[in-house]
Amino acid sequence: MIDKRLMNLLQEGKKFIFANVFLQWICLLCNLLAMYGIAMVLSGLKLGISGGYIPLFAFMVFTGAMVIRYFCMRLSHKMAFLSSQAVKKTLRRKIYEKLLRQGPGYEENVKQAEILQTAIEGVDQLEVYYGSYLPQFFYAMLAPVTLFLVLLWIDVKAAVILLVFVPLIPVSIIFVQKWAKKLLSGYWNRYTDMGDSFLDNLRGLTTLKVYEADERQNIKMNAQAEAFRKATMRVLIMQLNSISIMDLVAYAGAAIGIIAAVTDLKNGMLSLSGCIFILLISVDFFLPMRQLGSYFHTAMNGMAASDKIFAFLEAPETENGTVTELHRKSLHVNHLSFSYGDRKVLDDLCFDIPEHAFVGIAGMSGSGKSTLASILTMRHTAYEGTILADDLDLKQIRHQTWSETVTYVPSGSYLFKGTVRENLLYADETADDERLWHVLEEAAIADHLRTRDGLETMIEEQASNLSMGQRQRIAIARALLKDSDIYIFDEAASGIDMESEQMILETIGRLKGKKTILLISHRLANLKKTDFIIVLEEGKIAEQGTHTELLDKNGIYARMYNQQMALENYGKEADYEAFTDESDV
Ligand SMILES: Nc1ncnc2c1ncn2[C@@H]1O[C@H](COP(=O)(O)OP(=O)(O)OP(=O)(O)O)[C@@H](O)[C@H]1O
Ligand SMILES: [Mg+2]
Repeated sequence: MIDKRLMNLLQEGKKFIFANVFLQWICLLCNLLAMYGIAMVLSGLKLGISGGYIPLFAFMVFTGAMVIRYFCMRLSHKMAFLSSQAVKKTLRRKIYEKLLRQGPGYEENVKQAEILQTAIEGVDQLEVYYGSYLPQFFYAMLAPVTLFLVLLWIDVKAAVILLVFVPLIPVSIIFVQKWAKKLLSGYWNRYTDMGDSFLDNLRGLTTLKVYEADERQNIKMNAQAEAFRKATMRVLIMQLNSISIMDLVAYAGAAIGIIAAVTDLKNGMLSLSGCIFILLISVDFFLPMRQLGSYFHTAMNGMAASDKIFAFLEAPETENGTVTELHRKSLHVNHLSFSYGDRKVLDDLCFDIPEHAFVGIAGMSGSGKSTLASILTMRHTAYEGTILADDLDLKQIRHQTWSETVTYVPSGSYLFKGTVRENLLYADETADDERLWHVLEEAAIADHLRTRDGLETMIEEQASNLSMGQRQRIAIARALLKDSDIYIFDEAASGIDMESEQMILETIGRLKGKKTILLISHRLANLKKTDFIIVLEEGKIAEQGTHTELLDKNGIYARMYNQQMALENYGKEADYEAFTDESDV
């Protein structure tokens, strides 16, 4: 009933839990006093003692106890809030630190939607566990013992009977626990699966609309939601049934205790005020346990969520290196192989990239260029062979140090909702306006931004208010601002207008000799200025050399280049013919 791993998370939350239990205990004592006051008045009425100072005294005891109880109750709620806040903060910090420790390769181990749900919803589910269930767990043991000790002075038989019935409630809780655990784990799996496909569909909504597939996807999601609804209903049925069982035990126990007290009254072994007192407090014997039972179900929800949280927190991590300083920024790749599952996509690559070299990477689609880039940026770590940077194994270098050293610029880089300034500052938060404008000039986007709101130009969600070319030029400006030693451009100038493509290539060209650059490009004409080109074919290095050397070789590179040239010239000829046809008319 108490999860050790969850208890270990308590740390500073401990003191709030103890304070909460103590305050609830004071509330119980106040309640006892108040009930004692009522019992005195009622028995006084029955015995004809309606005047004098006894009722007044009883009234004052009642009112005083209720006022103290009110304030203690409020404070105890505050303690509940503080304890769950403290643990939620600790847990979210642990999840965040774990993600940071995963380094750039976090996507290898984590599904985005799942971590989102776990960190937000999953952690929230634990609120009841720490705020209500855990304090109630201790209070539910303390309260019956306290009542028992008080009742011993009044009626031993009733006190023993009431105490004996109390443990039947936790027994019934334990009885349903196994059943509940199974149901709840299914419930959570369905919930995260549904979140996964929801996020996926939301991201691809435009595509679904384009193919008119939104209706079909809607039906699929409805089926998933229906399965989730059924799982939720099964959980609710289980919870209601178990609460009914607990109620039965609680009220039956109280009734038997009251019967015992009334019998004692009849036999003259108990005073009337004592009997009324027992009548009033008998249910209090069971209420804390019953309350624990109902918190238990919500807490179980949190415990099921915590299984996911701990599975994530305890998952093996890609080890972080310790080296934080690199001198030479050369790269030596030795016998590098990599597989996605059992599909080998890089096979025994060996090459060197000297410091400040400008290297092109070419190859057909699917030949492994982006995979190579993701290994070099530490986003994939499960490779064979070695990569040396500054004669150090890449795995010895701290993730953060390597992230500072290498900048990866893919096609369609991500821009955040916010101003241009905010987006640029991700690369260097200390940069002043002059530097920001300098990189925007370098990336040939400054003039355009001057016609808008300059650095304060708003970028909408998914940069929907910018053209592809503008987006990419801002992304290039951000990359330049980072001023790292190595740049990997992965089709950074692809899929945009010719003018932007040309501008971006010129910007990259200006880095030549100052930075180590890897330029991945489909368009081989863009690689002409590189120092040398590595050509990949089905994960292997097919050829290496300068643009002219490779053309002279007449191999795969030359074939690809000639095909592209023929295609471009065909385009030009077709334009020319269309133009002359029109002028003939
Ligand atoms: N996350 C992944 N899981 C499984 N297979 C993958 C994954 N990413 C890529 N692949 C596969 O690995 C191979 C190499 O992909 P990669 O993206 O490196 O090719 P590429 O040379 O960059 O292609 P393109 O020029 O089209 O960008 C492809 O066959 C691809 O299907
Ligand atoms: Mg690619």
